[in-house]
Amino acid sequence: MFSDEIERLRHDNLFRHIKDRGPICPPARILINNIEYINFSSNDYLGLSNHPSIIEAANKAIEKYGLGAGASRLLSGGTELHATLEKKIAEFKGSDAALIFNSGYTANISAIPVLASEGDIIFSDELNHASIIDGCRLSKAKKVIYRHRDVEHLSELIKKEHGKRKMVITDTVFSMDGDIAPLKEISDICTQHDAILYIDDAHGTGVLGSGRGALTHFGIKPTPQIIQMGTFSKALGSYGAFIAADKNVIQWLINTARGFIYSTALPACVIAASLEALNIVQNDLSLIKNLWQNREMLFKGLMDLGFYTINSETPIIPIVVGDTNTTLKFSELLMHHNIYAPAIRPPTVKVPRIRVSVTAAHTEEDINKLLKGLRFAK
Ligand SMILES: Cc1ncc(COP(=O)(O)O)c(C=O)c1O
Repeated sequence: MFSDEIERLRHDNLFRHIKDRGPICPPARILINNIEYINFSSNDYLGLSNHPSIIEAANKAIEKYGLGAGASRLLSGGTELHATLEKKIAEFKGSDAALIFNSGYTANISAIPVLASEGDIIFSDELNHASIIDGCRLSKAKKVIYRHRDVEHLSELIKKEHGKRKMVITDTVFSMDGDIAPLKEISDICTQHDAILYIDDAHGTGVLGSGRGALTHFGIKPTPQIIQMGTFSKALGSYGAFIAADKNVIQWLINTARGFIYSTALPACVIAASLEALNIVQNDLSLIKNLWQNREMLFKGLMDLGFYTINSETPIIPIVVGDTNTTLKFSELLMHHNIYAPAIRPPTVKVPRIRVSVTAAHTEEDINKLLKGLRFAK
């Protein structure tokens, strides 16, 4: 079964396989098959996933609350830590209330279908994350796709369409291109057309706006019409996701979002880790400063070497080096230099690329090694 399909994937250089890693390594390193690489593949932008006080917080929570949550949140799976994290993340995001979801994927596929349903219209950026696309597919609303970051196109389309409710959905930082949605213009369009704005701030949280995310970055005040989704799994180095929004929206999600209702709650240790990570991000801005300094150093080096990086504006930097085969070879060559920077291929993206993500944990030497490896592989 499926052998022809698998053979076709192999033939087209699109076969994926899992590379599991070994135990914790020094910062920004990854151990694969007992070889240590400098890791440029992680969304752990602030290097928090191995932070001692976060690990300690998780360990303490296991001792206090046990490991598995044992049930969904609406039954008995939640702890007082869940409620505390929701309160803190809502404050951090400047919104009324928040709700924790088990992952960013779950948040999008659970919330979008109940925020826009039959008779409604969703306007979605063509490069939105797969979880948004799947959330839109599950919704009975009409879907209208606008060209990537093209506010004129969005404006044209939103004028034409008439439905009960309109909702515009966009990634804030696009996960594969590393560019940023023009949120100011998008939010103005939403205000003009009385549309809900749903933002996926998975890669903006902890990275933009002193860590508070894209709204703060653009100086946009949260309103009841703005719904902010974000994750604890990237810059916060933990796991899980949240939606921060108006109280009524949160009540509605608690009562209707299937991925929230019908799934076991996140364990308390994960919640304790997210709480500690949030505490660190709020109190130590030096990590975000390092992240952006590293990003600028790498980006300048890439420009000096003449690499094409699409429109990257953030620590996510796509490097376009050729077709799928060339990109795979490039990534393999980098591995010979002990650099782990994976090739991203269709169908995840249309244009194959090496997706580099630089973090606060990289050193100047790490970045120079990457640049050297890239110069050699070119
Ligand atoms: C923009 C965006 N949204 C959602 C997700 C899903 O988040 P999670 O990994 O927590 O499921 C990702 C993860 O890759 C993402 O990049």
